[in-house]
Amino acid sequence: MRTQTLAWLVLATVSAKPKPLDGRIAAVTGGSRGLGRAVVDELLRQGCATVIACARNVDSLAELENVVAVTADVRTTEGRRAFVDAIATTGGLDILVNNVGTNVRGPTTELDEGDYRSVLETNLDAAVFLCRDCKAMLEERNGCIVNIGSISGVCCDHTGVAYAVSKAGLDHLTRYLACEWGPCQVRVNSVDPWFIRTELTEPLLDDSDFRAAVEARTPLRRVGEPSDVSQAVAYLCSAPYVTGQILCVDGGLTCNGFEYQKPSSSNRENDIAGGMGGF
Ligand SMILES: NC(=O)c1ccc[n+]([C@@H]2O[C@H](COP(=O)([O-])OP(=O)(O)OC[C@H]3O[C@@H](n4cnc5c(N)ncnc54)[C@H](OP(=O)(O)O)[C@@H]3O)[C@@H](O)[C@H]2O)c1
Repeated sequence: MRTQTLAWLVLATVSAKPKPLDGRIAAVTGGSRGLGRAVVDELLRQGCATVIACARNVDSLAELENVVAVTADVRTTEGRRAFVDAIATTGGLDILVNNVGTNVRGPTTELDEGDYRSVLETNLDAAVFLCRDCKAMLEERNGCIVNIGSISGVCCDHTGVAYAVSKAGLDHLTRYLACEWGPCQVRVNSVDPWFIRTELTEPLLDDSDFRAAVEARTPLRRVGEPSDVSQAVAYLCSAPYVTGQILCVDGGLTCNGFEYQKPSSSNRENDIAGGMGGF
């Protein structure tokens, strides 16, 4: 009995421990699946009182406790207004996560003007105008913004110029607003992932040769999981002196240079011996 009481006391103490984002109100674009959904779950786990999440189809969010689901296409003025109105009705905003993103792949010589504009509107314009429209609410609560960029905005991964340009723009939006809004105590950061397993990347990663090539190029030798990204987002939301930063969640990809591997190498030791040290 005494052991049971002690166990209960330990449990009660642990569950009463304050969480980093206790009581915060967050808004996440594209929160219905993939990385956005992982971010919604992580922010709730870290203590957020309410998460307002939007997508064009929000069926998957219908049953979630402490989630306000908003049907909205953030490419449009009306969609963004519906989202911002829902945030305002909830009673304030501590965290805005601009996560929505799309891609149209292909060589630049075959780039369609409509596709280009659609990618830019989805990936960059929506974030610019949501930042603008949420700034006053964020300022009231010393809030923060996390933009979900991509390593495509940092280095060339041959995934399409519209996507690359939009994500590079998003990174610079982060730096720019961090400087403009720093004096108002609104922090702005980016999380830039490399390959993470979601519906967006599943068709590519299902090709085992392609996945092997991605893993071989990634120092941590694995594809990322949505939780790798959502934990980085939560960290930036609770880091009071961090702003204007681009946090690459990429298994080391963007710091990887050239590595020579002898064709005959078949184990890890040989790989290392056959690397730059082998010259
Ligand atoms: N997965 C990766 O490997 C990876 C790597 C680097 C960067 N990223 C970036 O991470 C972000 C999320 O990627 P993901 O893989 O999670 O994508 P995903 O699985 O395709 O999910 C995208 C989410 O955004 C919503 N959405 C798309 N367009 C929208 C619009 N116009 N208005 C409102 N909601 C919209 C989708 O719901 P609806 O379709 O119902 O609207 C969905 O909830 C993107 O910015 C992407 O560029 C992903």
